Amino acid sequence: MGSGDPGTTGPGIFGIRLLEVLKTHRPDIERHLILSTWAEATIKHETNYTTQAVRDLSTTTHSPKNMASALVSGSFLTDGMVVVPCSMKTLAAIRHGLGDNLLARAANVTIKERRRLILVTRESPLSAIHLENMLELARLGITIFPPVPAFYARPHTLSEAVDYTVVRILDQLGVHIPWTVRWGEPRIQPPDLS
Ligand SMILES: Cc1cc2nc3c(=O)[nH]c(=O)nc-3n(C[C@H](O)[C@H](O)[C@H](O)COP(=O)(O)O)c2cc1C
Repeated sequence: MGSGDPGTTGPGIFGIRLLEVLKTHRPDIERHLILSTWAEATIKHETNYTTQAVRDLSTTTHSPKNMASALVSGSFLTDGMVVVPCSMKTLAAIRHGLGDNLLARAANVTIKERRRLILVTRESPLSAIHLENMLELARLGITIFPPVPAFYARPHTLSEAVDYTVVRILDQLGVHIPWTVRWGEPRIQPPDLS
Protein backbone atom coordinates (compact mmCIF):
# COMPACT_ATOMS: atom_id res chain seq x y z
CA MET A 1 0.00 0.00 0.00
CA GLY A 2 1.43 3.39 -0.92
CA SER A 3 1.30 6.67 0.91
CA GLY A 4 -1.08 8.28 -1.59
CA ASP A 5 -4.17 6.77 0.00
CA PRO A 6 -6.01 9.45 1.97
CA GLY A 7 -7.34 6.70 4.25
CA THR A 8 -3.85 6.25 5.70
CA THR A 9 -3.47 9.63 7.30
CA GLY A 10 -3.50 9.24 11.08
CA PRO A 11 -0.33 10.12 13.02
CA GLY A 12 0.63 6.45 12.91
CA ILE A 13 1.35 6.96 9.23
CA PHE A 14 4.59 8.80 10.15
CA GLY A 15 5.98 5.64 11.73
CA ILE A 16 4.75 3.44 8.91
CA ARG A 17 6.22 5.67 6.21
CA LEU A 18 9.50 5.89 8.14
CA LEU A 19 9.77 2.11 8.02
CA GLU A 20 8.83 2.05 4.32
CA VAL A 21 11.34 4.75 3.36
CA LEU A 22 14.13 3.08 5.35
CA LYS A 23 13.31 -0.31 3.88
CA THR A 24 13.42 1.09 0.35
CA HIS A 25 16.34 3.49 0.60
CA ARG A 26 18.52 2.03 3.37
CA PRO A 27 17.77 -1.70 3.53
CA ASP A 28 21.21 -2.14 5.11
CA ILE A 29 19.91 -0.56 8.35
CA GLU A 30 18.17 -2.99 10.75
CA ARG A 31 14.66 -1.89 11.72
CA HIS A 32 13.67 -3.10 15.20
CA LEU A 33 9.99 -2.42 15.81
CA ILE A 34 8.08 -2.21 19.11
CA LEU A 35 4.33 -1.72 18.59
CA SER A 36 2.56 -0.79 21.82
CA THR A 37 -0.93 -2.13 22.42
CA TRP A 38 -2.36 1.30 21.73
CA ALA A 39 -0.22 1.72 18.65
CA GLU A 40 -1.95 -1.37 17.28
CA ALA A 41 -5.34 0.16 18.14
CA THR A 42 -4.56 3.50 16.51
CA ILE A 43 -3.21 1.82 13.36
CA LYS A 44 -6.61 0.12 13.06
CA HIS A 45 -8.52 3.34 13.83
CA GLU A 46 -6.48 5.70 11.71
CA THR A 47 -4.95 3.85 8.76
CA ASN A 48 -5.76 1.17 6.20
CA TYR A 49 -2.75 -0.92 7.25
CA THR A 50 -3.03 -4.15 9.17
CA THR A 51 -0.68 -4.48 12.12
CA GLN A 52 0.87 -7.49 10.39
CA ALA A 53 1.62 -5.34 7.31
CA VAL A 54 3.39 -2.86 9.61
CA ARG A 55 5.33 -5.64 11.34
CA ASP A 56 6.41 -6.90 7.93
CA LEU A 57 8.18 -3.56 7.34
CA SER A 58 10.59 -4.30 10.19
CA THR A 59 13.52 -6.67 10.26
CA THR A 60 12.67 -7.69 13.86
CA THR A 61 9.50 -7.11 15.86
CA HIS A 62 9.67 -7.02 19.68
CA SER A 63 6.66 -7.42 21.96
CA PRO A 64 6.31 -4.45 24.32
CA LYS A 65 5.94 -7.04 27.12
CA ASN A 66 9.23 -8.78 26.35
CA MET A 67 11.59 -7.43 28.98
CA ALA A 68 14.15 -10.06 27.94
CA SER A 69 14.46 -8.56 24.44
CA ALA A 70 17.92 -7.49 23.25
CA LEU A 71 16.64 -3.90 23.38
CA VAL A 72 16.60 -3.88 27.22
CA SER A 73 20.40 -3.89 27.29
CA GLY A 74 22.86 -1.19 26.35
CA SER A 75 25.24 -3.93 25.26
CA PHE A 76 23.02 -4.47 22.22
CA LEU A 77 24.29 -1.80 19.84
CA THR A 78 21.84 0.50 18.11
CA ASP A 79 22.32 3.71 16.15
CA GLY A 80 19.37 5.34 17.86
CA MET A 81 15.65 5.20 18.44
CA VAL A 82 12.57 7.01 17.15
CA VAL A 83 9.26 6.94 19.00
CA VAL A 84 6.78 7.80 16.28
CA PRO A 85 4.17 8.77 17.19
CA CYS A 86 4.96 9.35 20.88
CA SER A 87 1.94 9.57 23.21
CA MET A 88 1.99 11.85 26.24
CA LYS A 89 1.91 8.71 28.39
CA THR A 90 5.08 7.33 26.82
CA LEU A 91 6.68 10.79 26.96
CA ALA A 92 6.01 10.88 30.72
CA ALA A 93 7.32 7.34 31.22
CA ILE A 94 10.55 8.14 29.37
CA ARG A 95 11.02 11.42 31.24
CA HIS A 96 10.70 9.67 34.62
CA GLY A 97 12.81 6.63 33.73
CA LEU A 98 9.80 4.37 34.16
CA GLY A 99 10.77 1.29 32.16
CA ASP A 100 7.44 -0.44 32.66
CA ASN A 101 7.34 -1.81 29.12
CA LEU A 102 9.97 -2.53 26.48
CA LEU A 103 9.39 0.72 24.61
CA ALA A 104 10.00 2.91 27.67
CA ARG A 105 12.91 0.72 28.79
CA ALA A 106 14.57 0.85 25.33
CA ALA A 107 14.19 4.64 25.30
CA ASN A 108 15.84 4.90 28.71
CA VAL A 109 18.64 2.61 27.52
CA THR A 110 19.09 4.90 24.51
CA ILE A 111 19.40 7.88 26.86
CA LYS A 112 21.86 6.24 29.27
CA GLU A 113 24.00 5.07 26.36
CA ARG A 114 23.91 8.64 24.96
CA ARG A 115 22.53 7.54 21.62
CA ARG A 116 20.14 9.49 19.45
CA LEU A 117 16.52 9.55 20.61
CA ILE A 118 13.80 11.32 18.65
CA LEU A 119 10.28 11.70 20.06
CA VAL A 120 7.65 12.55 17.45
CA THR A 121 5.10 13.80 19.95
CA ARG A 122 1.39 13.64 19.21
CA GLU A 123 -0.79 16.00 21.21
CA SER A 124 -2.37 19.39 20.86
CA PRO A 125 -2.85 21.64 22.70
CA LEU A 126 -0.04 20.96 25.18
CA SER A 127 -0.46 21.27 28.94
CA ALA A 128 2.25 22.50 31.31
CA ILE A 129 2.82 18.85 32.29
CA HIS A 130 3.52 17.88 28.66
CA LEU A 131 5.77 20.91 28.15
CA GLU A 132 7.73 20.24 31.35
CA ASN A 133 8.31 16.64 30.33
CA MET A 134 9.49 17.76 26.89
CA LEU A 135 11.74 20.49 28.32
CA GLU A 136 13.44 18.09 30.72
CA LEU A 137 14.13 15.61 27.92
CA ALA A 138 15.26 18.34 25.50
CA ARG A 139 17.79 19.45 28.15
CA LEU A 140 19.18 15.91 28.13
CA GLY A 141 19.73 16.15 24.38
CA ILE A 142 16.64 14.28 23.25
CA THR A 143 15.06 15.63 20.07
CA ILE A 144 11.43 16.64 20.52
CA PHE A 145 9.95 16.54 17.04
CA PRO A 146 6.27 17.50 16.70
CA PRO A 147 5.33 16.59 13.11
CA VAL A 148 4.58 20.12 11.97
CA PRO A 149 4.11 20.31 8.17
CA ALA A 150 6.80 22.23 6.25
CA PHE A 151 4.60 24.46 4.13
CA TYR A 152 7.60 26.10 2.45
CA ALA A 153 8.00 22.81 0.59
CA ARG A 154 4.56 23.51 -0.95
CA PRO A 155 3.28 19.94 -0.60
CA HIS A 156 0.68 19.02 -3.23
CA THR A 157 -0.79 16.26 -1.12
CA LEU A 158 -0.95 15.19 2.49
CA SER A 159 1.27 12.25 1.55
CA GLU A 160 4.00 14.63 0.38
CA ALA A 161 3.76 16.54 3.66
CA VAL A 162 4.04 13.26 5.60
CA ASP A 163 7.07 12.17 3.57
CA TYR A 164 8.80 15.49 4.10
CA THR A 165 8.42 15.06 7.86
CA VAL A 166 9.73 11.48 7.61
CA VAL A 167 12.83 12.68 5.72
CA ARG A 168 13.46 15.32 8.41
CA ILE A 169 13.09 12.73 11.20
CA LEU A 170 15.65 10.55 9.43
CA ASP A 171 17.95 13.57 9.11
CA GLN A 172 17.91 13.70 12.92
CA LEU A 173 19.10 10.08 12.99
CA GLY A 174 21.94 10.96 10.60
CA VAL A 175 20.27 9.09 7.73
CA HIS A 176 20.00 11.45 4.79
CA ILE A 177 17.58 10.51 2.02
CA PRO A 178 18.00 12.29 -1.36
CA TRP A 179 15.14 14.77 -1.51
CA THR A 180 14.40 17.39 -4.13
CA VAL A 181 12.57 19.88 -1.94
CA ARG A 182 15.23 20.68 0.64
CA TRP A 183 15.36 24.44 1.23
CA GLY A 184 17.97 26.06 -0.99
CA GLU A 185 17.71 23.37 -3.64
CA PRO A 186 15.56 23.85 -6.75
CA ARG A 187 12.34 21.89 -6.80
CA ILE A 188 12.68 19.83 -9.94
CA GLN A 189 9.82 17.36 -9.61
CA PRO A 190 7.65 15.92 -6.90
CA PRO A 191 9.82 13.57 -4.87
CA ASP A 192 9.41 9.83 -5.33
CA LEU A 193 10.09 7.96 -2.12
CA SER A 194 8.04 4.89 -3.02
C1 LIG B 1 -7.75 6.80 18.44
C2 LIG B 1 -6.88 7.24 19.58
C3 LIG B 1 -6.14 8.39 19.50
C4 LIG B 1 -5.30 8.81 20.55
N1 LIG B 1 -4.58 9.95 20.42
C5 LIG B 1 -3.68 10.27 21.38
C6 LIG B 1 -2.84 11.40 21.19
O1 LIG B 1 -2.88 12.08 20.18
N2 LIG B 1 -1.93 11.68 22.16
C7 LIG B 1 -1.85 10.93 23.30
O2 LIG B 1 -1.01 11.25 24.13
N3 LIG B 1 -2.67 9.90 23.51
C8 LIG B 1 -3.57 9.54 22.58
N4 LIG B 1 -4.39 8.46 22.76
C9 LIG B 1 -4.34 7.76 24.06
C10 LIG B 1 -3.18 6.77 24.07
O3 LIG B 1 -3.46 5.71 23.19
C11 LIG B 1 -3.05 6.25 25.49
O4 LIG B 1 -2.53 7.28 26.31
C12 LIG B 1 -2.16 5.05 25.58
O5 LIG B 1 -2.06 4.64 26.94
C13 LIG B 1 -0.75 5.34 25.02
O6 LIG B 1 0.03 4.20 25.22
P1 LIG B 1 1.42 3.98 24.45
O7 LIG B 1 2.20 5.24 24.57
O8 LIG B 1 2.03 2.82 25.18
O9 LIG B 1 1.08 3.65 23.02
C14 LIG B 1 -5.23 8.04 21.73
C15 LIG B 1 -5.98 6.85 21.82
C16 LIG B 1 -6.79 6.46 20.77
C17 LIG B 1 -7.58 5.19 20.90
